[in-house]
Amino acid sequence: MVGDVEIAGAKNAALPILAAAAMTDETVYIENIPDVRDVNILLETMRGIGVAVKRNDRHSVMLNAGNVHNLIVEDEGSKKIRGSYYLLGAFLGKYKQTEVVLPGGCDIGCRAIDQHIKGFRALGAEVVIEHGLVKVRAQHLHGEHIYMDRVSVGATINIMMAAALADGMTIIENCAKEPHVVDVANFLNSCGANIKGAGTDVIRIRGVARLHGTEYTIIPDQIEAGTFMFAAAVTKGDVTVKNVIPKHLESVTAKLLEIGCEVEEADDCVRVVASKPPLHTQVRTLPYPGFPTDMQPQITVALALAKGTSIVTESIFENRFKYVDELTRMGAEIRVEGGDTAIIDGVAKYTGASITAPDLRGGAALVIAALAAEGFSTVEDIKYVERGYEDFHIKLQGLGAQIELVETDKDIQKFKLKVG
Ligand code: EPU
Repeated sequence: MVGDVEIAGAKNAALPILAAAAMTDETVYIENIPDVRDVNILLETMRGIGVAVKRNDRHSVMLNAGNVHNLIVEDEGSKKIRGSYYLLGAFLGKYKQTEVVLPGGCDIGCRAIDQHIKGFRALGAEVVIEHGLVKVRAQHLHGEHIYMDRVSVGATINIMMAAALADGMTIIENCAKEPHVVDVANFLNSCGANIKGAGTDVIRIRGVARLHGTEYTIIPDQIEAGTFMFAAAVTKGDVTVKNVIPKHLESVTAKLLEIGCEVEEADDCVRVVASKPPLHTQVRTLPYPGFPTDMQPQITVALALAKGTSIVTESIFENRFKYVDELTRMGAEIRVEGGDTAIIDGVAKYTGASITAPDLRGGAALVIAALAAEGFSTVEDIKYVERGYEDFHIKLQGLGAQIELVETDKDIQKFKLKVG
């Protein structure tokens, strides 16, 4: 694949920022919202409980949560996504109570919320799980010193949101440092919160009485960017990903260099050139600034074409190798041991096959493998990919990929005739 691709706003920043926008009664204007399924579901959920949501254009939205009439969030959409659980922290802070359906999200392993609960309780809330709802309620929220037993993006953000409107100082130790955690803190600060240290292991939050409206632009999606960078590596391409923050891509860039790609960084874009098959390597997923779990399938798809044996260890989620069976159908030689380690013997090429996306990132990685494969492939259940990638197939077409969204067997036949 060759050419330039524009990266959208970060899904995993947009979800908590939209929820946090409901923490003020004033109007909030947010730009660079990605037009992806999970974000649109959350906006619908928020509309359903009385938040006024106005999409000014595809990527900007105006919200006003001055007339929220329902603090019980249990619509069908919010069960399917993970982001709905950010309404827990947001509304616990603002209204001192809420009930939110236990969150869904991709099936990539056990997705516990014990650290969220631990944090809410430390701030003075009662938390119970009943009839599929997480119910939180506090007479009074107070600052507290909280040590996270496990680095969690979701728990760090949820506790930070509730603490922003608690009395006194909260200190969260061993917190997640992902760029989207920093983005949520910056957003809240632009609404009048007092949060320091986001992006380090320790976040300090001095509670304020209320938040006000703001205008805010969401950071670029580093996982979408990383996916296109690896797409270049897998297809021996030359791709410039634009509208990115190169600093957020350091671990991805480091691994691309290690496997023999050239990577050129400029202020807000990164170019990846791959002219040879990848070199083998080892990688372990880790919290930021380590190599992201959300990039694990994409690097595996590259390493499966490397000369020699590579090892990929998943240390965040227990069940994130489901796509491997599908990749095997395309000729990959990968053994998953103990559920968390993939031992990959590189093959010279993939061959086209009918495969199924098991989840968001695994699905995107399979699409990339299919683009590198000899012959045709069909990837079913592309709805997973649409959860987090805006116009994925259109952006790939822009890079010269022969790819189309199809509904029926007839569409598939037409596509085959068209591309020969
Ligand atoms: N964990 C606990 N207890 C908790 C919270 C988390 O044990 O209370 C565990 C999880 O089971 C997991 C690990 O800690 O093993 C990390 O979980 P984390 O809370 O960091 O993940 P998350 O908030 O559920 C977000 C992203 C994921 C991304 C992870 C890790 C959103 C909506 N989701 O999930 O994104 O993989 O952080 O970076 O922000 C994706 O976009 O494809 C995706 C799955």
